[in-house]
Amino acid sequence: MPVTRIIKRLATILTFCVLAGCAGSPSTLLPASTNARVITNLMWFFFGIATFTFVIVEGLLIYAALKYRQKGTPDLRKEGLPEQNEGNRSLEIAWTVAPAVVLAFIFIISVVALRAVVSQPDLTLNIAGDPSAINVRVIGHQWWWEFQYPDLKIVTANEYHVPVNTVVNLTVESGDVIHSYWAPQLGGKIDVIPGHPNHTWFNVTETGLFIGECAEYCGTQHAKMRFKVEAETAEQFQAWVKQQQSPPVEMTGDAAKGEQVFMSGACGTCHAVQDTKAKGVIGPNLTHFASRRTFAGSILDISPQNLSAWLANPENLKPGTKMPNLGLTPEKISALVSYLENLK
Ligand code: CUA
Repeated sequence: MPVTRIIKRLATILTFCVLAGCAGSPSTLLPASTNARVITNLMWFFFGIATFTFVIVEGLLIYAALKYRQKGTPDLRKEGLPEQNEGNRSLEIAWTVAPAVVLAFIFIISVVALRAVVSQPDLTLNIAGDPSAINVRVIGHQWWWEFQYPDLKIVTANEYHVPVNTVVNLTVESGDVIHSYWAPQLGGKIDVIPGHPNHTWFNVTETGLFIGECAEYCGTQHAKMRFKVEAETAEQFQAWVKQQQSPPVEMTGDAAKGEQVFMSGACGTCHAVQDTKAKGVIGPNLTHFASRRTFAGSILDISPQNLSAWLANPENLKPGTKMPNLGLTPEKISALVSYLENLK
């Protein structure tokens, strides 16, 4: 294959890889919170140092290879052996000290950045009731996320809302095994460890929907354990809070039938709906379920089709899920879907 064709093909592959890496969110290259920005800036700074080093080292190497290359066929009998060198003390000291200095520098700025990323904004402010900070308890489950707002008395699943330009304090816990909480555009990863609450925080600076995921293998559906963070203006957030705190709407028609199926069946042993007798805490809290975009670890959009398929056989859509197949009749499924879609 001619060299130009090889180069063209390599360029195509490289471009594809680069584009695939940047495509949409969640990209760490598009930070949206103060602490995520620290991480991205650090990465670019290191990338700059590495590029500079690479160009200098490879440049010298190529220069030496070209300048001192053998010209013509050597005649060893006439020329003898090339000049023999036995090391060079000053060069050796230089190439030991220079990288040591660079690495020490990288170490120091990494520690400084690490502190800026993980150090908790003053929590006492919050305990004293600072109205500007938001506390969220994040609980990882196989394979979905629970979000509780202890001060606001809100519980939701797989999606949570935060106001922009506000410190959000996260207490991260596990309901079962080790997971890892990671919203790449909103700061660093944090381990989700059973019996050991961890803390992290972020302050998102722009409105938008940010994708997060579990970043620690936690079983069959690890890859389908996602979540969404909706960052909105203070007014939008207040409206959301008000809506989440309101009691569930009165059900009528098909939805009322669905409610009856829900309350009389096994649903309420795992799921809770505020102000009803369904008080289960094993599965996601379904109060205001229809105000969310997705369900089942944020992998399925809330739609009648998806809900019907899920209720008919959850295992089909998410093998290994803890949601059992209850052997529901099509009539019961249709009524339940109507009920769920009205849990606004
Ligand atoms: Cu949870 Cu991986």
